[in-house]
Amino acid sequence: MLPIGPLMIEHRLIERMITLLRKDAERMDREQRIDAGFLDRAVEFMLNYADCLHHAKEEQFLFKELDKKDLPEDLRRIMSELIEEHRQARAAMLGIADAKARVLAGQQDFFAQVLSHARTLVIMYPRHVEKEDRHFFLPCMQFLTSEEKDAMLEREYGFDREVLHEIYREKVEREEKK
Ligand SMILES: [Fe+2]
Ligand SMILES: [Fe+2]
Repeated sequence: MLPIGPLMIEHRLIERMITLLRKDAERMDREQRIDAGFLDRAVEFMLNYADCLHHAKEEQFLFKELDKKDLPEDLRRIMSELIEEHRQARAAMLGIADAKARVLAGQQDFFAQVLSHARTLVIMYPRHVEKEDRHFFLPCMQFLTSEEKDAMLEREYGFDREVLHEIYREKVEREEKK
C-alpha cells in the first residue's frame, strides 16, 4: 500500500463525523440550543483522531519528506495551504469546546460562536479533504522512491501503535499538573 492509503481511509471516517456535525449545526440553528454531549464527542474525535492522529501523520511524515524534494511551485503552495487549514481546523475545534463551556456556564451569548465554529469546520474540512485526495496526495507520490514510500508506510503504522498511549499519557500529565 502507498503511504497515502491509510490517510485516505482515515478521511472517510472523518467525513462521517463532519456529516454528523453538519446535521447538528442545522439542528442548532433551528432549535437555538446546543447538544453539549454530542459536541463533546465530536470535538474529542476531531482533536484526537483528525488532529493528533491524522494531521500529525500528514505533517510529520508525508509533508516533512516532500519538503526535502524538488516539488513544483503549485504543489508546494497547496502543501502550505493544507498546513494552514490544519491550524484553522484545530482552532475551530478548540473554539467549539471553549464557546460550548461558556454557554453551559450561562453565557448564552456564546451560542453564536459555537455555531459559527461548527460551520467553519463543516465548510472547510470537506474542501480540505478533497484538495488532499484529488489534488495533492497522488501527484506527490512521484517524488518519493519506492523505498521511501515503504519506509513512510511503516512509520505511519508505528505512529498508529503509539498515538493512543501518547494521548492518554498527556491526559494524565495534565491532570497531575492541576
Ligand atoms: Fe490534512
Ligand atoms: Fe487529511
